[in-house]
Amino acid sequence: MKLAPSILAADLADLGEAARLCEAGGADMIHFDVMDGHFVPNLSFGIPVLEALSRRTELPIDVHLMVNEPEALLEEYLKAGAARVAVHWEATRHLDRTLQVIRSAGARAGVAMNPATPVEWLGDLLPRLDFVLLMSVNPGFAGQSFLPYTLDKARRLRTMIEDFGVEVEIEMDGGLGRRTIRDAVAAGVETCVAGSAVFGSEDPVDEMNRLRRIALGETTE
Ligand code: DX5
Ligand code: ZN
Repeated sequence: MKLAPSILAADLADLGEAARLCEAGGADMIHFDVMDGHFVPNLSFGIPVLEALSRRTELPIDVHLMVNEPEALLEEYLKAGAARVAVHWEATRHLDRTLQVIRSAGARAGVAMNPATPVEWLGDLLPRLDFVLLMSVNPGFAGQSFLPYTLDKARRLRTMIEDFGVEVEIEMDGGLGRRTIRDAVAAGVETCVAGSAVFGSEDPVDEMNRLRRIALGETTE
């Protein structure tokens, strides 16, 4: 299990401190939510903030582009320090080409899917990507409730990955915390994004350790 705290839920006036907390808590990567106010109703941060953050941390940055036509600025995000980039299935026409651009820059290429988008629609793309980011809330905001039906999508996707015989990682994003993270991992999720569960807690470092123990079934609370 890999933990990817989402700094969208951190103190946005102090992202350097958020990165330090992620390192102290043993996070595997930092999840970076980009929103354009069109694909999702909210706005967050973009390329200059990514550049600044990547100067402050050695952790890989996992960029989640919740933007229409992500290909327009893709190369800028890659240059700014993204180790992984997920584009939304619903937001781009030429997914195959977009994934090739990400991989050819040396980053890991992912496709994010809204809760309402069936995993079966990935079809022939599965051997052409590194990870699938399954949304377990409707994208746009931190702090929403987990949608339990997305667990079945993770299980179906795990079966598809095995049938294809490919190495594709499943990441889940939205509403993951003490009460939901174990179910996600049991359904085949390998990378868990957690925003408000981590940064809304009194002690984010302690919470990261706790979430990891719960996810691995070492404790229930
Ligand atoms: C939602 C974002 C998420 C969000 C997760 O649109 O993609 O990454 O920050 O926050 P929580 O864990 O609070 O649902
Ligand atoms: Zn996200």
